[in-house]
Amino acid sequence: MLPRSTREELLGQRGMMIWFTGLSGSGKSTVALGVERELHRRGLLCRILDGDNIRSGINAGLGFTADDRRENIRRIAEVGKLFVDTGIITLAAFVSPTNEYRQMARDIIGANDFFEVYVSTPLEECERRDVKGLYARARRGEVKDFTGISAPFEAPEHPALSIDTSMQPLDVSVEQVLTLILKQQPSNE
Ligand code: ADX
Repeated sequence: MLPRSTREELLGQRGMMIWFTGLSGSGKSTVALGVERELHRRGLLCRILDGDNIRSGINAGLGFTADDRRENIRRIAEVGKLFVDTGIITLAAFVSPTNEYRQMARDIIGANDFFEVYVSTPLEECERRDVKGLYARARRGEVKDFTGISAPFEAPEHPALSIDTSMQPLDVSVEQVLTLILKQQPSNE
């Protein structure tokens, strides 16, 4: 198989993983979508992995027990590693609630390619937004093990970047992630 560098040269970019972690409704996917648009505009190839294309597909059948979440993250990391090795700027947006799961993802992907972005929007704001109505259902006890309500969320200790989407407009958050990415790209050398 050709080495990764040949694919990266072909694309003129460096593959990397931006791993968004944060509560449900914190804005992970929204920021990732904004970053995707900006990267595309600059001629950089990227791919979003999120609940919409992973939990409904390769991970359909996995729920939210600790074991299922671990397996969810493990498969995402393995798939993400293939994207990164293809030279693609990969944006993964998953709650990934514990240090253990995120460390596993980092180990699978490789620390040099793994950049953790903590979307730190507070629980009160995520619950106020309640985009999918799941917080209300979790409060009523209709959803078990709901992160932030009846299941834990551990904030990352040393994220590459922290973003609170309740404190700044979307374009500022997008710009911060974009800066982190562009710093790693050959066009910046
Ligand atoms: S993870 O914990 O395994 O990383 P993931 O990001 O894939 O979670 O899925 C989280 C999304 O699934 C939430 O944004 C929410 O829409 C939905 N969801 C459904 N049940 C739960 C639950 N018990 N805890 C957290 N999220 C849930």
